[in-house]
Amino acid sequence: MIDDFRHLRLEQDGRGVATVWFDVQGVPVNIFNDEVVGELQEVVRQLERQPPRMVVFRSGKMSGFLAGADLRRIQQIQTADEVRMVLMAGHELFDRIEQLPCPTIAVIHGPCLGGGLEFALACRYRVARDDAQTRIGLPEVQLGLIPGWGGTQRLPRVVGLRQALRMILEGATLPAAKALAVGLVDLAAPVGEFEAEVERFINDRLAGRSLRRPTRGLVGAMLDGTWPGRTVVFATARKQIRSRSGHYPALPAAIRAVSAGFRGTRTAGFATEREEFTRVVFTPSARNLIEVFFQRERARKRSTWVPDEAAPPHPPHQAAIIGAGTMGAGIAQLLAFNGIPVVLKDVSDEIVAGGVKRIESLTGEAVSKGLLSPDEAAAVVRRVTPTSTDWSPLADADLVIEAVVEREEIKREVFRQLGGRLSPAAVLASNTSALSVSRLAEATRHPERVAGLHFFNPVHRMQLVEVVRGLASDDSTVAVLVDLVRRLGKVPVVVADSPGFLVNRLLFPYLDEAVRLVIEGVPGPDIDREAIRFGMPMGPFELLDQIGVDIAADVSGTFAPLRTEPGPTPERFAAMVREGWCGKKSGHGFYEYRNGRRGKTTKWATPSVPRPAPTSPTDETGGLTALQQRLIFPIINEAAKCLEAGIVTDPWMVDLAMVLGTGFAPFRGGPLRTADALGVGRVVRALETLSREYGDRFEPAPLLRMLCDEQRGFYAAMPAAVVHEEVHQ
Ligand code: NAI
Repeated sequence: MIDDFRHLRLEQDGRGVATVWFDVQGVPVNIFNDEVVGELQEVVRQLERQPPRMVVFRSGKMSGFLAGADLRRIQQIQTADEVRMVLMAGHELFDRIEQLPCPTIAVIHGPCLGGGLEFALACRYRVARDDAQTRIGLPEVQLGLIPGWGGTQRLPRVVGLRQALRMILEGATLPAAKALAVGLVDLAAPVGEFEAEVERFINDRLAGRSLRRPTRGLVGAMLDGTWPGRTVVFATARKQIRSRSGHYPALPAAIRAVSAGFRGTRTAGFATEREEFTRVVFTPSARNLIEVFFQRERARKRSTWVPDEAAPPHPPHQAAIIGAGTMGAGIAQLLAFNGIPVVLKDVSDEIVAGGVKRIESLTGEAVSKGLLSPDEAAAVVRRVTPTSTDWSPLADADLVIEAVVEREEIKREVFRQLGGRLSPAAVLASNTSALSVSRLAEATRHPERVAGLHFFNPVHRMQLVEVVRGLASDDSTVAVLVDLVRRLGKVPVVVADSPGFLVNRLLFPYLDEAVRLVIEGVPGPDIDREAIRFGMPMGPFELLDQIGVDIAADVSGTFAPLRTEPGPTPERFAAMVREGWCGKKSGHGFYEYRNGRRGKTTKWATPSVPRPAPTSPTDETGGLTALQQRLIFPIINEAAKCLEAGIVTDPWMVDLAMVLGTGFAPFRGGPLRTADALGVGRVVRALETLSREYGDRFEPAPLLRMLCDEQRGFYAAMPAAVVHEEVHQ
């Protein structure tokens, strides 16, 4: 028997097993929208009327099981009553699935996220395909929301309270093997055996064979299963989120919803979940985080960056990385991890061997996280061909990424050597942090095939990659690189070629201001604390220590042409480098480090005559302290200059790049959303005051003044007249 809907399909086989296939039309991944929910209600009605022996829910799409609820729909909701109605519909529907008289199984491959997992949790069993694509979790807090379709109530019952809180509060997703270990799924099987294992699982359940689920040990049972134990677990969770609760109201809301599930009746638990969801969905934090999510989706579309008619780019068959240092090894591993064979070249066998070792260790980490099986890990390492003096393995490369030391003459020499050896169609990319890609391209015979590809450190963790369009880069080159970044699972932002591109250019005025503040007498830890209170993942000095003071010194040198006034920072960096205070990697910079852990502040962040920083925010400052304004407003000002200069065309590109590239307070939605939320007029007035007090560098950008005069924000349409090209000369 077959019953076809638009998005769902109900089949029944001779054994009496009903299979419900999800294939949501018009979208690349299955999501729950109003139509799908409507169809599922109808399917469940049929199953209730004539219960089969078993129901299997699975996806007809290769892309995965169910990626969650339609976020556009959530964004459109205007009233609390409408939110409650949508949540109630989900609760009722999933309750009915849970109460079907026959066993139900969710067969998971690829993403099973948010509402998708909440649906799967209402099934009696879950089985998952064990490969790198399968990710299972409730990432709602990353969108400023909480699970709203029963996740806060059902997950703790399935995986235990501590594991559930960890998953919900971190919003992290689990691969199949980890999901099996915590009892979230009942079977995880590799791709080759998956279908047979699913069949066996179904037959075992039909035959009434029992299933063993993992136990949690005595301590686990005490903590998760008793009232005093749970009190301890909730208190610990509250303590862990305390410092972030103000910026991320979804965190305490999620804890309240989970805890309600243990305090009162089942109905009260679900009602609390609805109320807490309704409370957070309209907060600026949720609005901004959802906006960042959509910006990321937009950035991942090739048509955002290059015209559709751009020559269809061919995926790279053979890549080569020149430079096997921190970045080169990281990039080579990422490519090999994603199935691209890669040649890794450096100047000596020992250095290349060091790079390969790093690749092995990164791949080993992926195995311990359950992302790869040992066999797959071995295949990743096999995809890397090391070479030092011999160029011949590069002959077939159709993509080369240069990641040698940040010295223009060395990079140009590498480009010159490559130029004579590669096919004219090969794309050549530089991972330079700040040098002119257009000038590097001049060293080759085909500058149109050259562009920048700026990965961030650590490569496997950072989501952003800046694709730098040189003066001569053609659309098909940019398209190849944009496609590559997407294939690597990262987010591309295409930027014009200018010192520091976008992210470093915006970051450096902030780091520069932090160093000036110390020199003026503000203790470094006070400055770091204020930055973290604003919402940065770490303070400027900890960040500088991580980047490396030597690298910061090099990069800051490239900004010389953009500087509006001289300052003490380059000399301060140079002095630190001369004395060997290069940051975390050298054991000391602005802080001391022992075994990688941060210790005391060093002399570089301790002023001889300290003066307390004014820290109390006022209404006039939109809740920001004087110190925060001094750190953050230069970023906004520089961002306005980048838009004027055409480094990127739209404000959202700035915001997305800063959130993904630097961790800029995601709940604020990026520097330009921050400016809009504060009011551009207020930012301009504050910059004028700062400019009078501290110097011309705070002089507001013309674009800021114009928006202020027109009483507009960045997210109102940008006037085209102010955009002119400013590129490396
Ligand atoms: P690194 O010093 O760890 O590695 C550079 C490698 O290049 C060394 O192994 C060196 O032996 C090799 N090399 C030098 N000349 C060579 C040549 N002619 N042929 C082949 N290999 C050669 O440097 P790191 O940190 O990996 O940086 C590499 C590039 O990535 C630089 O342009 C840097 O600005 C950029 N970058 C660095 C980031 C970081 O945080 N470390 C972040 C983003 C970009």
